[in-house]
Amino acid sequence: MRRLFHLVLAAAIHVVLIAALLAPAVKSAEAQTRTTTVVQLGEALCHSLGCTACHAKELNVQAPDLHGLFNRNVTLSDGRTVRADEAYLRKSILEPREVVVAGFEPIMPSYRDVVTDEQVDDLLAYLKSLSPEPRQPNERPRRRRSGAD
Ligand code: HEC
Repeated sequence: MRRLFHLVLAAAIHVVLIAALLAPAVKSAEAQTRTTTVVQLGEALCHSLGCTACHAKELNVQAPDLHGLFNRNVTLSDGRTVRADEAYLRKSILEPREVVVAGFEPIMPSYRDVVTDEQVDDLLAYLKSLSPEPRQPNERPRRRRSGAD
């Protein structure tokens, strides 16, 4: 009887241990799915709001290419050089006249009254995904083969 009890106990401990080992993997898979969804929402918004009409990669005569923009330095028409961090991207969408990229006409409309805060977050997630290594604030930068950056 006692032996059986020990066996059952050992089995139960194994189940708990395996669950504990698997939980983080399941969690990160969930997080991944969520990120993909936000990025996809942002991409859809970019199409429906007309961003891609001006910012399409093939058309970058009119508007700057948004690929690889996140965390890059940008020179503005007033001579300032700023880092294209999240705050900059947000401002570019909500107050484009305040951060006009050098060499471009200030033709981008403000989306302040067009998008909700949540939609701005979706757009930001999408814009960040266009950079080869979108960095999370708490993620240590990884080495790139090219050594660029
Ligand atoms: C009418 C054309 C047009 C539309 C529509 C448009 N943009 Fe722009 N956008 C521009 C131009 C031109 C610039 C460069 C001048 C400036 O900074 O205002 C720019 C600049 C930007 C920048 C800064 C780029 C850089 O290199 O620093 C971002 C980010 C951006 N746009 C995102 C968006 C998003 C997101 C949307 C849709 C919600 C959008 N734009 C819609 C024309 C447009």
